[in-house]
Amino acid sequence: MNTATSTAFDYKVVRLFAIMTVVWGIVGMGLGVFIAAQLAWPDLNFDLPWTSFGRLRPLHTNAVIFAFGGCALFATSYYAVQRTSQTTLFAPKLAMFTFWGWQAVIVAAAITLPLGYTSSKEYAELEWPIDILITIVWVSYAIVFFGTVMQRKVKHIYVGNWFFGAFILVTAMLHVVNNLEIPVGWMKSYSIYSGATDAMIQWWYGHNAVGFFLTTGFLGMMYYFVPKQAERPIYSYRLSIVHFWALISVYIWAGPHHLHYTALPDWAQSLGMVMSLILLAPSWGGMINGMMTLSGAWHKLRTDPILRFLVVSLAFYGMSTFEGPMMAIKTVNALSHYTDWTIGHVHAGALGWVAMISIGSLYHLVPRVFGGTQMYSLPLINAHFWLATIGTVLYIASMWVNGITQGLMWRAVNDDGTLTYSFVESLEASHPGFVVRVIGGAFFFVGMLLMAYNTWRTVKASKPAEYEAAAKMV
Ligand code: HEM
Ligand code: HEM
Repeated sequence: MNTATSTAFDYKVVRLFAIMTVVWGIVGMGLGVFIAAQLAWPDLNFDLPWTSFGRLRPLHTNAVIFAFGGCALFATSYYAVQRTSQTTLFAPKLAMFTFWGWQAVIVAAAITLPLGYTSSKEYAELEWPIDILITIVWVSYAIVFFGTVMQRKVKHIYVGNWFFGAFILVTAMLHVVNNLEIPVGWMKSYSIYSGATDAMIQWWYGHNAVGFFLTTGFLGMMYYFVPKQAERPIYSYRLSIVHFWALISVYIWAGPHHLHYTALPDWAQSLGMVMSLILLAPSWGGMINGMMTLSGAWHKLRTDPILRFLVVSLAFYGMSTFEGPMMAIKTVNALSHYTDWTIGHVHAGALGWVAMISIGSLYHLVPRVFGGTQMYSLPLINAHFWLATIGTVLYIASMWVNGITQGLMWRAVNDDGTLTYSFVESLEASHPGFVVRVIGGAFFFVGMLLMAYNTWRTVKASKPAEYEAAAKMV
């Protein structure tokens, strides 16, 4: 255990998680481009079970959410909690265990999912032995994070840490409750819930995985890195507190919007819809708070591509949290559900918000934990910014067109009540959109390769002796 009297921040585990964020980003997004290509050109399934779309899709979602997103959250939370608490990490050995434990979970996922082992719950596909490992790693993470907050040298708990803390606690609760299952073999289990209850628990989990893993954790990131990079205090500290309590109390009720027009009781669907509409307010409160932090610093956007990443991520956050409540309205959902519109919404959040805020934060963090102040190349960050922005726009726009086309074609009926279009006709109409998505995804992916090169050069130029000097508390 570390003594609170140490005068240097513990960046070792931050460095490891930061590097692995880039590595898993490339793997997960590379897989994304590949499965996008499979949807455009099905021959790429190669007629093999372990390279089929059905097995690689969950590998993509697990790799981008838990490997890429998870490593980014570990790296940034360990970095920010030390700096805002003016103390070193509590239990550094346990922190190192969270690193190796989390990598073991990811490798286990990469082996078992293509082999076809799955609990078949979306975003919770991993089988029970891996679920237990996740729980152990997560409890260790909570001990390190909250231990660090408790030994802080400043009176206040900075608001970013409230968001990180809520993300850690709620993720633990969601993971344990949704994965309660009865094992019937080493790699097979059955959920203890059944029927509509199982669906309700699954989407309570699924929606809050979005709400707490993909949103609250990344808002913690936003509250630290946006003010830091803009060199301005957060626009309104009071708004950030209101934002926090409003967001966490409303998100948890919105899950049923994933189950409109199903066997779920109608009142529960309507409750989910209303709560989703209310969710617009805290989401936009947070977005505005982040954006307005730039008041008086807007000119920096001309010269600072890192700040551009952070601000554009907030714009996409605002866009996807406007779109989400609209899609939660039952009549709108009747058109959007099961179509590519949902996929477009997902990636507006995933690429535009989650990936871009992580990339911006890492460009700020990486040089600092490796003993420097700047990334190797600013022009490369700029090129990455444009590739990521254009890639995201191509992805979302093609999926809007596809989604609305599919929804309208599926519901079109002739005067005699028969369907106007066959399913295959709607698939043919979707093909151009699928191709545009591959191009957009490839743009985003190439940007990640630039990031890897830039990170490698930054790390190579730094000297281990400088690491500790840079970690000194001032
Ligand atoms: C190069 C970037 C990416 C590409 C090309 C890509 C592509 C895809 C494709 C083709 C699908 C399957 C769509 C379908 O079943 O119709 C998918 C699903 C998904 N992707 Fe990505 N993806 C990328 C990045 C990301 C990132 C960074 C995240 C998260 C942080 C993410 C999260 C998801 C999720 C959650 C789904 C499942 C959506 C649902 O079930 O509604 N993706 N992606
Ligand atoms: C106010 C905020 C939001 C609301 C009310 C909302 C609402 C919705 C709705 C209504 C759906 C479609 C459900 C369906 O028809 O199956 C959906 C799907 C989804 N949203 Fe959001 N959304 C919000 C923000 C976000 C953000 C910021 C992200 C990503 C970071 C995101 C990720 C997803 C994912 C991954 C799905 C697909 C789940 C699945 O079917 O596999 N959402 N959301």
